[in-house]
Amino acid sequence: MSQHSTKASYAAIFQGFDSPTTHRMTTPKSQVTPTASHQVSVLPDGLNFVTNGVASVLESGLLGGVELPSSCRNGTCRECMCRLVSGNVRYRIDWPGLSADEKAEGWFLPCVALAQSDLQIEQPFAQAR
Ligand code: FES
Repeated sequence: MSQHSTKASYAAIFQGFDSPTTHRMTTPKSQVTPTASHQVSVLPDGLNFVTNGVASVLESGLLGGVELPSSCRNGTCRECMCRLVSGNVRYRIDWPGLSADEKAEGWFLPCVALAQSDLQIEQPFAQAR
Protein backbone atom coordinates (compact mmCIF):
# COMPACT_ATOMS: atom_id res chain seq x y z
CA MET A 1 0.00 0.00 0.00
CA SER A 2 1.46 3.36 -0.97
CA GLN A 3 1.84 6.16 1.54
CA HIS A 4 -0.85 8.14 -0.31
CA SER A 5 -3.41 5.33 -0.17
CA THR A 6 -2.60 4.71 3.50
CA LYS A 7 -3.35 8.36 4.25
CA ALA A 8 -6.60 8.11 2.26
CA SER A 9 -7.56 4.99 4.22
CA TYR A 10 -6.99 6.72 7.54
CA ALA A 11 -8.98 9.73 6.37
CA ALA A 12 -11.88 7.43 5.48
CA ILE A 13 -11.72 5.64 8.82
CA PHE A 14 -11.67 8.81 10.86
CA GLN A 15 -14.19 10.77 8.81
CA GLY A 16 -16.57 12.46 11.23
CA PHE A 17 -14.06 12.84 14.03
CA ASP A 18 -13.21 16.42 14.88
CA SER A 19 -9.91 18.13 15.61
CA PRO A 20 -7.36 15.48 16.56
CA THR A 21 -5.29 17.38 19.06
CA THR A 22 -7.54 19.61 21.13
CA HIS A 23 -10.59 19.10 23.22
CA ARG A 24 -12.36 21.94 24.98
CA MET A 25 -9.18 23.90 24.64
CA THR A 26 -10.06 27.51 25.17
CA THR A 27 -6.67 28.69 26.39
CA PRO A 28 -4.59 30.26 23.59
CA LYS A 29 -1.43 28.22 22.91
CA SER A 30 0.68 31.23 23.81
CA GLN A 31 -0.73 31.07 27.37
CA VAL A 32 -0.24 27.32 27.86
CA THR A 33 2.55 26.53 30.28
CA PRO A 34 3.34 22.82 29.90
CA THR A 35 5.02 22.50 33.27
CA ALA A 36 2.30 24.31 35.23
CA SER A 37 0.81 22.43 38.14
CA HIS A 38 -2.88 21.68 37.89
CA GLN A 39 -5.23 20.18 40.45
CA VAL A 40 -7.44 17.25 39.39
CA SER A 41 -10.57 16.49 41.40
CA VAL A 42 -12.28 13.16 40.80
CA LEU A 43 -16.03 12.93 41.37
CA PRO A 44 -18.04 11.53 43.02
CA ASP A 45 -15.60 10.44 45.75
CA GLY A 46 -13.62 13.69 45.99
CA LEU A 47 -10.21 12.14 45.28
CA ASN A 48 -7.52 14.67 44.31
CA PHE A 49 -4.12 14.68 42.67
CA VAL A 50 -1.79 17.09 40.92
CA THR A 51 -0.67 16.96 37.30
CA ASN A 52 2.00 18.96 35.50
CA GLY A 53 0.54 19.00 31.98
CA VAL A 54 3.39 16.79 30.72
CA ALA A 55 2.36 13.46 32.29
CA SER A 56 -1.07 12.23 31.22
CA VAL A 57 -3.98 12.61 33.61
CA LEU A 58 -3.92 8.83 34.12
CA GLU A 59 -0.16 8.77 34.84
CA SER A 60 -0.48 11.74 37.19
CA GLY A 61 -3.26 9.97 39.07
CA LEU A 62 -1.09 6.90 39.58
CA LEU A 63 1.79 9.06 40.79
CA GLY A 64 -0.60 10.94 43.08
CA GLY A 65 -2.23 7.87 44.60
CA VAL A 66 -5.40 7.74 42.52
CA GLU A 67 -5.98 4.78 40.22
CA LEU A 68 -8.31 5.33 37.26
CA PRO A 69 -9.53 2.37 35.16
CA SER A 70 -7.21 1.68 32.20
CA SER A 71 -5.95 -0.97 29.86
CA CYS A 72 -4.03 0.00 26.68
CA ARG A 73 -2.86 3.42 27.93
CA ASN A 74 -2.44 4.60 24.34
CA GLY A 75 -5.89 6.01 23.54
CA THR A 76 -7.39 3.09 21.65
CA CYS A 77 -9.29 0.72 23.99
CA ARG A 78 -11.49 3.39 25.68
CA GLU A 79 -11.30 1.59 29.04
CA CYS A 80 -10.29 4.84 30.75
CA MET A 81 -13.04 6.96 29.16
CA CYS A 82 -14.63 9.30 31.66
CA ARG A 83 -16.33 12.66 31.85
CA LEU A 84 -14.54 15.97 31.88
CA VAL A 85 -16.83 18.07 34.06
CA SER A 86 -14.70 21.21 33.90
CA GLY A 87 -11.30 22.31 32.66
CA ASN A 88 -9.30 21.93 29.47
CA VAL A 89 -7.14 19.12 28.10
CA ARG A 90 -5.19 18.46 24.94
CA TYR A 91 -4.11 15.10 23.59
CA ARG A 92 -0.62 13.70 23.11
CA ILE A 93 -1.82 11.68 20.10
CA ASP A 94 -3.51 12.95 16.94
CA TRP A 95 -6.52 10.64 16.98
CA PRO A 96 -7.76 9.71 20.47
CA GLY A 97 -10.51 7.11 20.16
CA LEU A 98 -13.49 9.40 20.67
CA SER A 99 -16.13 10.61 18.25
CA ALA A 100 -16.95 14.27 17.86
CA ASP A 101 -20.28 13.62 19.62
CA GLU A 102 -18.54 11.98 22.58
CA LYS A 103 -16.17 14.92 22.90
CA ALA A 104 -19.08 17.34 22.70
CA GLU A 105 -20.78 15.40 25.50
CA GLY A 106 -17.69 15.84 27.68
CA TRP A 107 -16.10 12.40 27.41
CA PHE A 108 -12.30 12.22 27.37
CA LEU A 109 -9.46 9.69 27.56
CA PRO A 110 -7.20 10.41 30.55
CA CYS A 111 -4.49 7.98 29.40
CA VAL A 112 -3.54 10.34 26.55
CA ALA A 113 -4.93 13.64 27.86
CA LEU A 114 -2.69 16.39 29.18
CA ALA A 115 -4.25 18.92 31.55
CA GLN A 116 -4.15 22.54 30.44
CA SER A 117 -5.94 23.82 33.55
CA ASP A 118 -7.35 22.52 36.81
CA LEU A 119 -9.73 19.66 36.04
CA GLN A 120 -12.84 18.21 37.56
CA ILE A 121 -13.51 14.73 36.19
CA GLU A 122 -16.17 12.12 36.88
CA GLN A 123 -15.04 8.50 37.28
CA PRO A 124 -17.07 6.42 39.76
CA PHE A 125 -14.55 3.55 39.55
CA ALA A 126 -11.53 5.63 40.64
CA GLN A 127 -9.77 4.26 43.71
CA ALA A 128 -7.25 5.62 46.19
CA ARG A 129 -4.06 3.52 46.01
S1 FES B 1 -6.53 3.04 28.65
FE1 FES B 1 -7.11 2.49 26.63
S2 FES B 1 -7.93 4.32 25.82
FE2 FES B 1 -7.21 4.90 27.76
